[in-house]
Amino acid sequence: MSDFQNPILPRMAFITNIIDETSDTKTFKVEFEGGGKGDFLHEPGQCAMLSIPGVGEAMISVTSSPTFKDFLEFTIKRVGRLTNIIHQLEVGDQIGIRGPYGNNFPYKLLEGKDILFIAGGFALAPLRSLINYVLDDEHRKDYGKVDIIYGARSVDDLCFKRELFENWPKKQDTQIYVTIDRAEEGWDGHVAFVPTYLEELQPSPENKYALTCGPPIMIKFVLQNLQKLGYQDDHVITTLEMRMKCGIGKCGRCNIGSKYVCLDGPVFFLDQLKQLPQEY
Ligand SMILES: Cc1cc2nc3c(=O)[nH]c(=O)nc-3n(C[C@H](O)[C@H](O)[C@H](O)COP(=O)(O)OP(=O)(O)OC[C@H]3O[C@@H](n4cnc5c(N)ncnc54)[C@H](O)[C@@H]3O)c2cc1C
Ligand code: FES
Repeated sequence: MSDFQNPILPRMAFITNIIDETSDTKTFKVEFEGGGKGDFLHEPGQCAMLSIPGVGEAMISVTSSPTFKDFLEFTIKRVGRLTNIIHQLEVGDQIGIRGPYGNNFPYKLLEGKDILFIAGGFALAPLRSLINYVLDDEHRKDYGKVDIIYGARSVDDLCFKRELFENWPKKQDTQIYVTIDRAEEGWDGHVAFVPTYLEELQPSPENKYALTCGPPIMIKFVLQNLQKLGYQDDHVITTLEMRMKCGIGKCGRCNIGSKYVCLDGPVFFLDQLKQLPQEY
């Protein structure tokens, strides 16, 4: 039996690179002993439990695309005990990983469709896995136009700058719209909150799915604006972040009504969310 067939056994991985995304967010590139991803085979949108022995563990989205064959990446915001300690780790240090967990973005259903990604702050991380999957040379022909609306409080708070400003704009039929909340010196790009920018851009819902991820207040207004633009609830997809403990549907920590976010989510269509009690 491989280690990943035991659903709660973490396996130690080595950090091979660390990218400072913002003042409180870093991307960790990891490989298992012997190199590569081993048999950790995730799909875009899935998560993993990351741990430090004696400290704790936390659910984190796999931000790398499955098309990145030799490593995994996790983008982690420093918010508390575990994430503070993870931020002190260096290249060569070890971290425990168990998973992959949860469902995934419906990337097969999206084939032949245009895709609108809308994200705020470090919540571009879960969408990035699907973005790089769709924009991969092998898959690009399977999808229509890709538009990415992304915003953060300031230029310093924008994550994945190299992909946003260099790699993704070079891809076929791909438009990137970046905005920051308030004007600042040196920035000649757009200034507006993400939901307002969406309203200004007025992307048509025709033959299109919208995927959104961000702070709750952003999601609330993005969903309202998508509705005004004519997007149907079964064409709007988002991810939920509940507190989690086991990650495998055993502890009941993440349940909303009849659903366990760790099993049935974190990816939900808006029409599914509307049937759940408003606890999230
Ligand atoms: C499906 C899923 C995907 C996630 N993906 C990522 C990711 O890609 N990158 C990332 O940095 N984080 C992600 N998170 C959040 C991450 O799991 C928490 O931030 C983490 O548990 C914090 O651990 P800590 O010990 O550092 O903080 P703690 O000391 O446990 O908490 C610090 C503060 O954050 C709050 N908090 C902790 N967890 C959550 C949560 N899930 N929702 C709301 N508030 C919370 C606490 O109430 C407290 O105020 C994800 C969570 C879920 C459920
Ligand atoms: S985290 Fe335990 S049931 Fe979901």
